Amino acid sequence: MPVNHRLLLMARPEGMPGPEHFTADAEAARSPREGEVLLATVYLSIDPAMRSWMSEGTSYQQHIPLGEVMRGGGIARVLESRAEGFVAGDWVQARLGWQTHPTIHARYLQKLDLGLGTVEDWIGPLGLSAVTAYFGLRDIGGLRPNDRVLVSAAAGGVGQIAVQIARFEGCRVAGIAGGAAKCAFVAGELGADAVIDYKAEPNLSAAIGRACPDGVDVYFDNVGGATLDAALEHLRHGARVVLCGRISQTHAAEPYGIRNLGRLAAARGRMQGFLVFNYHDRYDEARTWLAARRRDGSLRQRLHVLEGLTQAPIGLGMLFRGENAGKLVVRVKAV
Ligand SMILES: NC(=O)c1ccc[n+]([C@@H]2O[C@H](COP(=O)([O-])OP(=O)(O)OC[C@H]3O[C@@H](n4cnc5c(N)ncnc54)[C@H](OP(=O)(O)O)[C@@H]3O)[C@@H](O)[C@H]2O)c1
Repeated sequence: MPVNHRLLLMARPEGMPGPEHFTADAEAARSPREGEVLLATVYLSIDPAMRSWMSEGTSYQQHIPLGEVMRGGGIARVLESRAEGFVAGDWVQARLGWQTHPTIHARYLQKLDLGLGTVEDWIGPLGLSAVTAYFGLRDIGGLRPNDRVLVSAAAGGVGQIAVQIARFEGCRVAGIAGGAAKCAFVAGELGADAVIDYKAEPNLSAAIGRACPDGVDVYFDNVGGATLDAALEHLRHGARVVLCGRISQTHAAEPYGIRNLGRLAAARGRMQGFLVFNYHDRYDEARTWLAARRRDGSLRQRLHVLEGLTQAPIGLGMLFRGENAGKLVVRVKAV
């Protein structure tokens, strides 16, 4: 039996998450029972929401009990199967946890359709971050051709797909990102019409005004707080604000008090949050759409790959310091 290396959550962070909140252990992987499969983890997705699962009472999901394997989704290869429909060598995605060799019931697995894209595509442009951008913009944002779209955290996992979807749909897109390199990526690789380096702008609202001179029909908000407030000042009539995430608020001592809600009312706009998991029944629709654009070469995705399971806690902290350049994943085992 292979050794299952695991990272267990041992402490609840007050601030930034990091290696000090985890401990590594190893045990023999468990043989699958009837209906289960033994897996070898290949990629783990590192997502901002994981930070909230580490703390009590701050998440839309149950917090992770101390001493348990850190929760997280990813892609794995089947090593041994006692489940109908799965054989050794199959590629699957599941909530694997931060461990190298989980044994999981087949009902929690989704087989990868490698006709749609490569294994790397499934963790990137066909993965949940991309699917989040798809439903957030189209269903919540009600995206229409010629909309003026603004996307924050535009160089990140969700943001870079949102920028491109808006562009493919014939919209004018502006992206907000931290630093010159990320802004160059958003404009050059992703094709945004305008970019805002919020770290270099003393007045974000004025910068949005320059980048979006005709205002904003759809604001795709990954950041919350002062960025959301600044974006509200530029809403056009009938604007839609998509509350995807609020990463700037994760470690805020006090929640930021939004001041510009009057602008939403004046614009007769609407603001709506969503969770991608509620679109579970429609993931195939998103992936088919994204895969078509991947196949014709138009959909780009930059993955930021960290090597080895022990990098996962370091990676989680990187998200909150803006140190990831693209969709952040950990490669647990070489493919
Ligand atoms: N609603 C859903 O179902 C759903 C699903 C997935 C993700 N999300 C949300 O989508 C957002 C993006 O997630 P992701 O996985 O794609 O992460 P990501 O954008 O790849 O990485 C996070 C980025 O956020 C930016 N950031 C960090 N701290 C910030 C701060 N204080 N102020 C402004 N920007 C900050 C950084 O980019 P810069 O260097 O550009 O600042 C960082 O690289 C998150 O808020 C996440 O919670 C929501």
